[in-house]
Amino acid sequence: MGIIAAATHLPTGIAVAADGTPQPSARNPAQLKRLLDEMDERGSQAWSVPRKDGEFLHLMIKATRAKSVLELGTSQGFSAIWMGLALEETGGRLTTIEIDTERHNEARRNVNQAGLSQRITLIKGDAHAQITKLEGPFDFVFMDADKEGQVDYFKKLYPKKLPPGGMIAVHNAIRQANAMNDYLGMIRKHPDFDTVTVSATMDDGFCLSYRHRGA
Ligand SMILES: C[S@@+](CC[C@H](N)C(=O)[O-])C[C@H]1O[C@@H](n2cnc3c(N)ncnc32)[C@H](O)[C@@H]1O
Repeated sequence: MGIIAAATHLPTGIAVAADGTPQPSARNPAQLKRLLDEMDERGSQAWSVPRKDGEFLHLMIKATRAKSVLELGTSQGFSAIWMGLALEETGGRLTTIEIDTERHNEARRNVNQAGLSQRITLIKGDAHAQITKLEGPFDFVFMDADKEGQVDYFKKLYPKKLPPGGMIAVHNAIRQANAMNDYLGMIRKHPDFDTVTVSATMDDGFCLSYRHRGA
């Protein structure tokens, strides 16, 4: 599987509040496009997801109607902004955790510029510790921090903070599969989850796991 071409129509006119009320958004489409282009250019230095993966996450959030999203590994905030823009449509919120002070500060500046500071909560710290302080539950979790940490993150989220119907997306599940073999082996056998590996770039990709509604 791969995304041959992506065309994402960014929400610039309307933002849905947490209570479902549509509100006008003051976002400037040209400024947003410029910000995303600049962040994309700096992407490899910041280890950001490729743009197609950002668009894939954006679509997943909208399609699953996710409202409570958690990201582990913010970096400069590129994937956070793609997900935050999708949450403008679902009326949801994103919490994202980054251990590095400089990248956390940069992400805060970028999120502000994207007009998403009310939508995205940025936490600075070690996600292994911070995750235990978050109440949840989360209906979509994007894991993109330390690749060896996935099993620990999973144990801290499941079952209480990842209810039935919830999804986990783990990045670099193809190119860095060796670093997360324990997680991939565990989740593929887990009876409560359906798991697939997908690639939007036809290079690297996501391990996507869905917790059954009856589980
Ligand atoms: C691949 S980058 C994240 C890219 C980001 N998701 C994006 O696409 O824009 C991984 C980030 O995880 C951070 N990180 C690594 N270990 C972490 C930990 N234990 N807790 C929080 N962040 C961590 C790194 O500092 C790095 O900025």
